[in-house]
Amino acid sequence: MTMQATVMQAPVMQATAHILMCRPQYFAVNYAINPWMDPSSWAREARVLAATARREWTALHRALQNAGAQIELVPSAPGLPDLVFTANAAVVLDGKALLARFRHPERRAEEPRFAAGFRKLQARGVITSVRTLRDGVTLEGAGDCVWDETRNLFWMGYGPRSDEAARHAVAEEFGAEVLALKLADPSFYHMDTALSALPGGEVMYVPGAFTAEGRAIIHERVASDLRIALADEDARQLAANAVAIGRTLVLSGCSDGLRARLAERGYQVHATPLGSFLRSGGSAFCLTLRLDRHSAQGSAQEQQSERVGTAA
Ligand code: ARG
Repeated sequence: MTMQATVMQAPVMQATAHILMCRPQYFAVNYAINPWMDPSSWAREARVLAATARREWTALHRALQNAGAQIELVPSAPGLPDLVFTANAAVVLDGKALLARFRHPERRAEEPRFAAGFRKLQARGVITSVRTLRDGVTLEGAGDCVWDETRNLFWMGYGPRSDEAARHAVAEEFGAEVLALKLADPSFYHMDTALSALPGGEVMYVPGAFTAEGRAIIHERVASDLRIALADEDARQLAANAVAIGRTLVLSGCSDGLRARLAERGYQVHATPLGSFLRSGGSAFCLTLRLDRHSAQGSAQEQQSERVGTAA
């Protein structure tokens, strides 16, 4: 009786995964803010690449739906080619969204679009609060702030994009622990290109993307049998930039060796090529933002208010 009432009270949050995406209508590489981006090589085949991007995105969208995800869309906008990378829109946990502030002016123009998107989600009750960072602090959303459900903490990357000081904003806003790791390789300029916290507790990561101190923190917090260090071949195709939905891992591509290693741990890899987005320095995780992540404290609070609600 109690169980049934609980399920019926929160239909939106009960989906396997609730994800924000943005159609790539206006996606292109027409400026360069990371080493992957080459506007002149994009321009040479712009039409073909734009069509490829649309096909690849549609296949990713379908793969995520097939894996059980419910998808929300923020409208695309002309002149904002990187708006497709919704991972950068905000940090979201326990229904709260902390809106991103971007490092580069090219992407700062996306901020009002994402803010409007979150206000709409709030109006529908998908998100309970929408907050802004204080002036002068840069934080590029979940691209640099990855929730680790197993350890009940955020892995945060800083340096190329997000400021180290953003760790305090995140810790305060969400009341959660934040492990801040300095990024050391310009090709892995957002942490999500180099680290993924899988639902079984494994952390898949690119060792060379972090400083020695960063690697030491990873070693300290993740037992050796749960560390999946990626070799160059997988790092270069952004295999760490995977979306985990249950035991399905959706990514652009990976080696047979990594696929087998992940299979041993009970994961099924679904590879769906995202080559046109790799030209912008992004892959599967970058193109998505989880809206349904919960901390241990957040879930406990929710259960408590549901119990109160049921008793009343
Ligand atoms: N071109 C985009 C940028 O440089 C790619 C963003 C990829 N997103 C991510 N979460 N890694 O900002």
